[in-house]
Amino acid sequence: AGQKAYQTYCQSCHQPTGAGIPGAFPPLAGHVPEILAKKDGRTYLISVTLYGLQGEIAVKGQKYNGVMAGLGAQLKDKDVAEVLNYIATSWGNKLPAGQKPFTEAEVKAVRAKTLTPQQVLELRKKLGLK
Ligand code: HEM
Repeated sequence: AGQKAYQTYCQSCHQPTGAGIPGAFPPLAGHVPEILAKKDGRTYLISVTLYGLQGEIAVKGQKYNGVMAGLGAQLKDKDVAEVLNYIATSWGNKLPAGQKPFTEAEVKAVRAKTLTPQQVLELRKKLGLK
């Protein structure tokens, strides 16, 4: 189910391999685990998926200054959990030791907040990603 949602809603930008397109769409392969390793990384990933992201970021030394629209209107809480479990465990990605799969309840809690894509960027800055 997570793969189907990824194919429908994410892969046109992040690509079937999760490699993204340098300078345009950031990679998820080799990158999602480093987000998950940060405190509040899980909340951040849920927030990006629900609410989108806008502003300058750097991933693996490459800058991105794009806009990703949130998919909260298209995806139910269960779908968000499934797509995040897919990107966390595909292309060689693994959940960090001790982390459980995303749950519908976890997504529901973040949906209660309602953030703008700019606020999601502020969340990202607090993670302390390099
Ligand atoms: C950023 C996941 C769909 C374009 C991100 C990030 C994640 C993500 C986790 C943040 C990476 C980081 O902070 O280092 C997803 C998922 C999607 C999806 C799970 C589907 C449910 C899309 C689509 C597009 C897109 C369809 C293009 C229309 C982007 C762009 C950024 C981004 C441009 C960087 C935004 C910026 O420069 O501030 N995505 N994405 N994403 N995504 Fe997506």
